[in-house]
Amino acid sequence: MITLPTLLLVLAADSGLAVIPRPAHLTPRPGSFTLTGSTIITTDARSRALGGMLADYLFPATGFRLAVRPSAPSGARVVAIRLDATLTALGAEGYRLDVTPGRVTIRAPQPAGAFYAIQTLRQLFPPAIFRAARVPAAVWTIPAVSIEDSPRFRWRGVHLDVARHFMPKEFVKKLVDLAALHKLNRLHLHLTDDQGWRIEIRQYPRLTAVGAWRRQTIIGRPDPDSTKWRFDGQPHGGFYTQDDITELVAYAQVRFVTIVPEIEMPGHSQAAIASYPELGNKPDTLPVWTAWGVDENIVNPGDATIRFEQNVLTEVMALFPGRWIHVGGDEAPKTQWKASPLAQARIRELGLKDEDELQSHFTRRMDEFLTAHGRSLVGWDEILEGGLAPNAVVMSWRGIDGGIAAARAGHDVVMAPGSHTYFDHYQSADTTAEPLAIGGFLPLDTVYAYEPVPAALTPDEARHVLGAQGQLWTEYIPDPKRAEYMAFPRACALAEVLWTPQEEKSYPDFLARLATHLVRLGVLDVNYRPL
Ligand code: ACM
Repeated sequence: MITLPTLLLVLAADSGLAVIPRPAHLTPRPGSFTLTGSTIITTDARSRALGGMLADYLFPATGFRLAVRPSAPSGARVVAIRLDATLTALGAEGYRLDVTPGRVTIRAPQPAGAFYAIQTLRQLFPPAIFRAARVPAAVWTIPAVSIEDSPRFRWRGVHLDVARHFMPKEFVKKLVDLAALHKLNRLHLHLTDDQGWRIEIRQYPRLTAVGAWRRQTIIGRPDPDSTKWRFDGQPHGGFYTQDDITELVAYAQVRFVTIVPEIEMPGHSQAAIASYPELGNKPDTLPVWTAWGVDENIVNPGDATIRFEQNVLTEVMALFPGRWIHVGGDEAPKTQWKASPLAQARIRELGLKDEDELQSHFTRRMDEFLTAHGRSLVGWDEILEGGLAPNAVVMSWRGIDGGIAAARAGHDVVMAPGSHTYFDHYQSADTTAEPLAIGGFLPLDTVYAYEPVPAALTPDEARHVLGAQGQLWTEYIPDPKRAEYMAFPRACALAEVLWTPQEEKSYPDFLARLATHLVRLGVLDVNYRPL
């Protein structure tokens, strides 16, 4: 026998209310609305551009070039978009979406909310609405519904490592589009590492002339015995020009995605040292690294290096208008600083206890610099070691303890624990049918069950948890198709963790909606991992 809740769930999925992430409040209404070529999109002045975006979203599959106007004659079929200051209680990203047989009404206090209403509206249509060419004989009907919606967390992110494998600009745009579809609002771009420097810095052209290219890449996982390493013999590289970055930032901005650039320091810096050997601790000239792992070649802590990093950050700030600038800080072995007369002299001059405090000093110099320019430093949780830079935002990746400590110290926190958010980990216990991955096991249900606020925090401390993000480290992700395979559908689950009120989450209900959502992703040519 089919129970009533099950029946309702099936009907909800079948009637087109397969919205991911699930809205906070959704009430089905009687009837439906059918979009036709004579439907008019009406907007006020501030939502005019959003009306144009909606028309652009709907055009390819429907073939309708919908008019976008300030008003429509009475009796016309209308999709109305209005910014409405009386709805401020919904927050900067909230919205109301009402679908009735004659009319669709979107109201939001701010443009971001209206944009998210549009993303919800797209998901009310049959999945074919996402086609890039006209769907013959289609009828574009959506169920009547009232939705009032706003996100649980402010930081809803996806991360992409473009250093280990360079990802083309067009793929970064596709990822921005997919983030926006899932109401994610941060794209953390890991732009520099040992294996490649991916952003043009005009003051230091060798960073890309030399640092953007490696001679070859290790095959498989590095054996502890490096004499066993085998390489592919294929040069790999690429970088974004400053014009490319400007294009990506603008593309993301109109989709309400803030790109958070990461320039790694003092570790994961071999590509920079390969470009400018004076940044290192030894006189040797190094190649851009061709293997994976944690590298002892970190930058030296001298004043010239600090100036170099700040000069790089100056160009980065000019390109990325968002508040957050990530300076890495993870996995910086201190072997070379321990052996370096310059580093040891710095420790003595500054009256520091050890090399960890020297890294903390280094981070603080970046923090002061970014803060003086009105920005906020973000770093991996190692920035807590040896004293926390005063204004820093901490990304908790080695579990949740760094997040707890940082929140207790009054710092904002983004949760990124390997246990629940590392999308480079395997998604199946049986790895024989999976492409080679770094390791780990992070199935879809574990992502869905993730609770970003650590139970140990008081409500006051918990306010510092901005949200969370999914990590795509690309040592074993050679190209966009693999990146899609690793990111989806896990990013769909994380989007619901970050958007939907805790009490509205249900894994069986998510799976029922996901069945429809995967059809959408297929239409969008996303190489998701089949369930
Ligand atoms: C990290 O995974 N090293 C942040």
